[in-house]
Amino acid sequence: MSDIAVITIDGPVGVGKGTLTLRLARFLGWHTLDSGAIYRVLALAAQKHKVALNDELGLCQLAESLQVNFQPMSDLSSTQVWLENQDVSRELRTETCGAAASQLAALTAVRQALLARQRAFQQPPGLVADGRDMGTVVFPDAPLKLFLTASVAARAERRYQQLKQQEIDVNIDSLMSEITLRDQRDMTRAVAPLIPATDANIVDTTALTIDEVMAQVLHLVAQKLSML
Ligand code: DC
Repeated sequence: MSDIAVITIDGPVGVGKGTLTLRLARFLGWHTLDSGAIYRVLALAAQKHKVALNDELGLCQLAESLQVNFQPMSDLSSTQVWLENQDVSRELRTETCGAAASQLAALTAVRQALLARQRAFQQPPGLVADGRDMGTVVFPDAPLKLFLTASVAARAERRYQQLKQQEIDVNIDSLMSEITLRDQRDMTRAVAPLIPATDANIVDTTALTIDEVMAQVLHLVAQKLSML
């Protein structure tokens, strides 16, 4: 167990985890872990090397040797992701890639193969980690755990705006059914399902702006981290 502080931010698709993670890390001067991006990169690598999304052994071998680099922009507004020296930041964000990531993320051995890689992000002065099982499995001793929720409609709308901004073509109705399906798979899988840790603070972001979420979270940060 490490004594380097971690704040975990878990929740379903489009709930605002990524934005909050970057904002919080910038505020605290800490590192970030976008664990979903690791699953997404593995999905891209599988496609590139023609490994099927249900080939557990093949995916594990790929996971062990995965050459992935994360380069946060200097203002921490986003992170560039490199797979085998190729910039895949844009490819990574499509819903097709998210769905493939969700599929391989349901395999126990694959999750196990990616565990050490995720824990290696716990570096001084601290880490803000975003995902589905950050508070339950990857960093169970984190002093502050957040679980974000929001209505499906609000999440689909946010995802839609996000993808549109990145000029990724998408239809809101199909997006809504895709994210419902992905959440369902992430919540019902046998290993590390998407559920709040028993000691997580639940924040419903449906009616909140990112500034309002940030204000609530900073309040919790002040309470919890001053006790460390
Ligand atoms: O957060 P995201 O949309 O980039 O994640 C893509 C998929 O990866 C998500 O649907 C399920 C999987 N995932 C996971 O199983 N565990 C995590 N900690 C993060 C992501």
